Amino acid sequence: MDLRKIFANNERWIAGKLALDPDYFHELAKGQSPKLLYIGCSDSRVSAEELMGLQPGEVFIHRNIANQVIATDNNVNSVVQFAVEQLKVEHIIVCGHYDCGGVKAAMSPSDMGQLNSWLQTLRDVYRLHHHELDAIMDDTRRLDRLVELNVLEQCINILKIDHVQKSWNSSGFPTLYGWVFDVRTGKLIDLKLNMEEEFREVRRIYDLKPPSAL
Ligand code: CO
Repeated sequence: MDLRKIFANNERWIAGKLALDPDYFHELAKGQSPKLLYIGCSDSRVSAEELMGLQPGEVFIHRNIANQVIATDNNVNSVVQFAVEQLKVEHIIVCGHYDCGGVKAAMSPSDMGQLNSWLQTLRDVYRLHHHELDAIMDDTRRLDRLVELNVLEQCINILKIDHVQKSWNSSGFPTLYGWVFDVRTGKLIDLKLNMEEEFREVRRIYDLKPPSAL
């Protein structure tokens, strides 16, 4: 790929924006106040803004392999804290996608080297739901279901974060959503997860109250 093409694209993009609004970059430089935090997969086919039809400034984005929220990952934790405390986003979206290479790798017990530790939490999701998953005979459908269950489990992982719980206690926000992008059709699917019901079950375990005197 000739990278000069990218800079030419950039010049065209600037010209296009300025043709519509001469103040576009002046306004953009004033700062950001996105209402959404999107946590998605790094997969090159799942371009967050493009598939959602959103413009620069409208969505705060974090992407990693298989859209995971891992407690010891300083990167995702910093993104969530900044989004919730500073940007005060109203919604957090975890968006998985079908045909996810990370999910496929997690379902095949092979040594992936450096990726093993990253895939471990995905394998944990598989273990947690293996009765349901192993009962699905169709390979594609079983992978699709793990993609969906991974989205649910990552939403639950967001529930575990102290900054999120503090924000819920003070403002009731952010609201969490689980979505899946279907790379086969381009369709964005709302899994319509009933977070209240899903969370009720686990909150007694993960709610972080001030430590009582021991
Ligand atoms: Co993926």
